[in-house]
Amino acid sequence: MTQVHSAFQPKEMRSSRRSTRRLALLGATGSIGRQVCDLVERFPDRFTLHAVIAGSDAAGLQAIARRHPEAHVLLAHPGDADASRAARAIDEAVRDPEVDLVIVAAAGSAALAPTLAALEAGKDIALATKEVLVMAGELVRERMRKHGSQIFPIDSEHSAIWQCLWGEKEHGIRRLILTGSGGPFLRRPLETLESVTIAEALTHPRWKMGPKITVDSATMMNKGLEIIEAHFLFDVPYAGIDVVVHPQSVVHSMVEFVDGSIKAQLGVPDMHLPIAIALSFPDRLDSVAPAPDLAALGQLSFEALDALRYPAVALAREAGERGGTTPAVLNAANEEAVALFLKGQRRFVDIVPSVARALEAAQPARDLTLEAVIAADRWARAHVRASAEGSGRLRSKLPA
Ligand SMILES: NC(=O)c1ccc[n+]([C@@H]2O[C@H](COP(=O)([O-])OP(=O)(O)OC[C@H]3O[C@@H](n4cnc5c(N)ncnc54)[C@H](OP(=O)(O)O)[C@@H]3O)[C@@H](O)[C@H]2O)c1
Repeated sequence: MTQVHSAFQPKEMRSSRRSTRRLALLGATGSIGRQVCDLVERFPDRFTLHAVIAGSDAAGLQAIARRHPEAHVLLAHPGDADASRAARAIDEAVRDPEVDLVIVAAAGSAALAPTLAALEAGKDIALATKEVLVMAGELVRERMRKHGSQIFPIDSEHSAIWQCLWGEKEHGIRRLILTGSGGPFLRRPLETLESVTIAEALTHPRWKMGPKITVDSATMMNKGLEIIEAHFLFDVPYAGIDVVVHPQSVVHSMVEFVDGSIKAQLGVPDMHLPIAIALSFPDRLDSVAPAPDLAALGQLSFEALDALRYPAVALAREAGERGGTTPAVLNAANEEAVALFLKGQRRFVDIVPSVARALEAAQPARDLTLEAVIAADRWARAHVRASAEGSGRLRSKLPA
């Protein structure tokens, strides 16, 4: 393993000597973005919002601006206004020398260009949007290496692994163990998945999240994307990354070491915790959330992943192993299939087969350039939109 990341002996943030950290927040109106705003408001001596950026929710952004009049406010899709001008303004905002830390929590692939721009400007990044690493992990790592930037993970599983790795040596690691709750359909009879409604897929038993990631949690594509995210964040081969189902969502993930020890990070299922440590590293903020009451919980359980119920996990792992633009195809096909499901134009059980069909038909580029990623992304979306329902290989593994 070649270490390009700070996970083992993280450096302090470049801004860590400044008393107040100035933040640029991409995805300010979303689930993660709102929790970042909460933390900024709870810890005003530690953080200020320098720029807040959203997609098209002007009212939501204005509400944030009223509470943070010092923040620059930007929309990526500002109605009638010039979209390329908006993209340039976002590019400038994330590169702004006044910004200490860029928080990337914009929905999916929209976050890629601003993330690459921020890394080029040498910014440290607190990353929620795993899709960026799935689409273009090699490009992200190349920019980090070249410009000396670091990524502090916000995804709860990766935050847990990150915290377990502090002070450890790379050669002491045997494997990373990602936990996943199994989502709302862990116990639902397979033959009834055909009739899953949008509301059912959006009802996660443990976490309150935005719609796309909530559906990804129901298919467990989210865990597949997280395998690829972990591969790039921690530079661990795919064979060294496992998944275990843990319905209580208290153990957020684990690292197994060569001596047979396992370190785990525990916490209540509240995204304020991993967001706070990514924003305040190397400090921990006081009383971000109550610690889990283990005696009241009584027991924590773990079970093997059911590959028949969750074919998305193996599909994503395979796409990651194939490399090149294959993970970008996986990501875009999944985003498109989930969007169609949320519009009522595809069934829940069509999501993963749509992605599988796109992967089967794709002709991926081996060399990863930004242009190749964008082309693969466009192709996969068009393929999913155009393709008929059903899938050869995977449909046979899903309920009829
Ligand atoms: N929610 C969680 O608990 C959680 C946990 C772990 C990881 N994540 C990851 O964090 C990311 C965000 O998730 P979320 O649940 O917060 O999503 P969300 O609630 O759907 O919010 C998405 C945010 O992205 C903004 N956005 C859309 N297009 C944009 C663009 N072109 N440029 C800038 N911003 C844009 C949206 O603005 P508008 O409101 O204007 O559309 C909104 O603020 C996802 O990648 C997800 O996988 C989330």
